[in-house]
Amino acid sequence: MGTNRIKLAATLFAVALACGGYAAGSSAAAPRRAAAKRSADARTVYSQHCASCHGEDGDARTEKGELYGATDFTSKKWWDKEHPSDARLRRAISAGKRGGMPAFGKRLSAAEVSALATYLRGFKGR
Ligand code: HEC
Repeated sequence: MGTNRIKLAATLFAVALACGGYAAGSSAAAPRRAAAKRSADARTVYSQHCASCHGEDGDARTEKGELYGATDFTSKKWWDKEHPSDARLRRAISAGKRGGMPAFGKRLSAAEVSALATYLRGFKGR
């Protein structure tokens, strides 16, 4: 009787631990999954809308990129010289720039523009 109660308590404790662990695990994994999804989305959007000029690898070594003189995002020199803020990157993407950078403000959501601005930083020094 006494041992049964202990066994029951132990089982309940194990179940509680398992549930707690599972809940803690999933709540920690959710933001990670969301971040992974955001970067996957940014990569897709980049491939669809930007890579034709800025290159799949960000180095702008494409026919159109060379024709227009698109910014090479792998250039550490460019990042170090310009120190572009997120706001500047988002503005360039949304409103475009003279000299061949198209405006994407009507084609992309604010979240996509923002994700792209972050994604571009990943090319630096590659
Ligand atoms: C038709 C070619 C073309 C496409 C497509 C294109 N760009 Fe550009 N982009 C350019 C050119 C050219 C420049 C350089 C403009 C300048 O500095 O005057 C530029 C510059 C930029 C800059 C630098 C702005 C700055 O502040 O100096 C950013 C950021 C940028 N592009 C992001 C993107 C993103 C993100 C996409 C896709 C959504 C994209 N571009 C698509 C041609 C393009």
